[in-house]
Amino acid sequence: MKTLILAGGSGTRLFPLSREHFPKQFIKLFDAESLFQKTVKRSLLFSSPQDIYVVTNKDHRFLIHAQLEEMGCTCTILTEPVGKNTLPAIYYGVKTIGDEDDHDNIAVVSSDHLIDTNTAYVDAFQAADRLAEKYLVVFGVRPTCPHTGYGYIRLGEGLGDGSLVDTFVEKPDAETAVRYCTGGYLWNSGMFVFSPKLFLQECACHAEDVVSAFTHPVEQAYDLTPKISIDYGIMEKTDKAAVVPLEAAWNDVGNFDALYSIFPKNGDQNAVRGEYIGINSHDNLIVSDRLVATVGVRDLAIIETKDAVLVASRSEAQHVGEIAKLLKEKG
Ligand code: GDD
Ligand code: MG
Repeated sequence: MKTLILAGGSGTRLFPLSREHFPKQFIKLFDAESLFQKTVKRSLLFSSPQDIYVVTNKDHRFLIHAQLEEMGCTCTILTEPVGKNTLPAIYYGVKTIGDEDDHDNIAVVSSDHLIDTNTAYVDAFQAADRLAEKYLVVFGVRPTCPHTGYGYIRLGEGLGDGSLVDTFVEKPDAETAVRYCTGGYLWNSGMFVFSPKLFLQECACHAEDVVSAFTHPVEQAYDLTPKISIDYGIMEKTDKAAVVPLEAAWNDVGNFDALYSIFPKNGDQNAVRGEYIGINSHDNLIVSDRLVATVGVRDLAIIETKDAVLVASRSEAQHVGEIAKLLKEKG
């Protein structure tokens, strides 16, 4: 199996830890390895280094190169002149590394997730590899809350190794997400396995504008292609999708609330990275290289870096991404 790692996202909801020039996948949030490096390690379970490809924004090329070198791993880096979301990135990757006659399946994985690589993880990938000749395979995770930032999958007929996808709905509204959550739907984990032949066929059927853009050289293709994710562009439309349930701890590390849920807590349920004194303060996330003290606050994210401080309510953590837009407007 070949692996295509998507590493071009900007991770704006983790501002100020994550910045335009240093997105969250490259930060060492948990230990000495970044989420990107953890992703490469997971990919090595199924692909040899020469079969691992990273597709990313040209600005992150050197960052990736340095992190790969740190691991003593040489993979191929494919650079995009500009980010146009995941469908153009995957299309570009698949066109470059496989063709319609290539029988090696391709696993497409996100570079910014925290996943437990237990035996269930390995079994799920092996099952997906078996299904991938006939289906575009996604990995389904059991939902823990009605999150509106994920894709939801309704299971269809059983296939032994998984099930057909009956319906795929990307990022539903809050009311629908509650219904899906209680209705047995699974979250889309954001990882896919398919044969290049089937993926290219499905793109020809459902994403003609992306396909025609890529008949031009890369720079021009990225000018011409629409900005669209694989979820809206293909997964919502295809009738050739299958889902394999993933029974491994999976976290998208999408915002500070998710980060809070992963970090260990002290007695007051504060999750702390750094030196901290809290008086009557509970359920906060605190990340700082300096001493932080709080009195009488709860459910906050307090994040300090060299050049910025963020204080946010954890329940509003989804809105932190809007800061990046405002900063851009300010220039
Ligand atoms: N190369 C490249 N270029 N990579 C990109 C681009 C791009 O333009 N945009 C995003 N990525 C990378 C991100 O770095 C991340 O690793 C992955 O593609 C997914 O992009 P996100 O922007 O994080 O997607 P999402 O979280 O909103 O939604 C996706 O993941 C969810 C699970 O985390 C969807 O697949 C959902 O259906 C899914 O539930
Ligand atoms: Mg994501």
